[in-house]
Amino acid sequence: MPKITILCENTVGRPGLIGEHGFSAWVELEGETLLLDTGAGQGVVHNALAMGKDLAEIEKIMISHGHYDHTGGLNMVLGQARGAEVYGHPDIFKNRVAIIGRGDNRIVRSIGLPFGREYLEGQGAEFVLSEGVQEVAPGARLTGEVPRVTDFEVNDPMLFEGQGGTYAPDPFLDDQSLVLESPLGLIIVFGCAHAGMINTIRQAQAITGQDQVYALLGGTHLGFHTPERLEASIQALKEIDPAVVAVSHCTGMKPAARLMQEFGDRFVFANAGSVFDFD
Ligand SMILES: [Fe+2]
Ligand SMILES: [Fe+2]
Repeated sequence: MPKITILCENTVGRPGLIGEHGFSAWVELEGETLLLDTGAGQGVVHNALAMGKDLAEIEKIMISHGHYDHTGGLNMVLGQARGAEVYGHPDIFKNRVAIIGRGDNRIVRSIGLPFGREYLEGQGAEFVLSEGVQEVAPGARLTGEVPRVTDFEVNDPMLFEGQGGTYAPDPFLDDQSLVLESPLGLIIVFGCAHAGMINTIRQAQAITGQDQVYALLGGTHLGFHTPERLEASIQALKEIDPAVVAVSHCTGMKPAARLMQEFGDRFVFANAGSVFDFD
């Protein structure tokens, strides 16, 4: 069974770690260790060291999507994980912004991957980019582009792609999650689940042919949507009936509280330092 340690999250669950708006998970499989995302850059090296994880062991880094809070530590990680393969979707390098407010009060904030491809290749990155499903280790896959099958999971209206004042809603084709097969069911680790938590679960089931979902971890982005959408997501999740709901990051406090109310002891807030040993 996989063992997953949360390296970076907005909050910390044990002393000596750095919390930052971001996400990174250390994923131990039989015979292989993977890294999903790298946080925003402040915490990943420090936290790995503090938890006795040697980043030099990492040969495969997976990028869930091209936001700074998942990719900002990529150069730091590559400094230790020399020559690592970096898996992701070709769109991870797109320019992306968050637009907050309107008119004169409008703030445009750059939120994309903060490094260019050439620079990262100069740091030793070997990019393995694909729009489709990628098997990164036996029983471990990236979802590839996630078909939007639910009617309630729309994209975050504040997030755009583009540059120089010309922006369009970000379709988040690059948003993908890590799917691990286990005897107890699927273990799905989201980055932000911009493609929709339920859409992502449906894709995980489709690409593995396994319906049973055992555990969900990572960011769900539920905190950035309407209460109606949150309730629709929770209803759908109750039918999927996972045994472990260990979400955090962009899930948000109120949605996390609602999930805890619904899932009781099956809910865990996965902050930096949390260890999920599914054995
Ligand atoms: Fe995020
Ligand atoms: Fe994101």
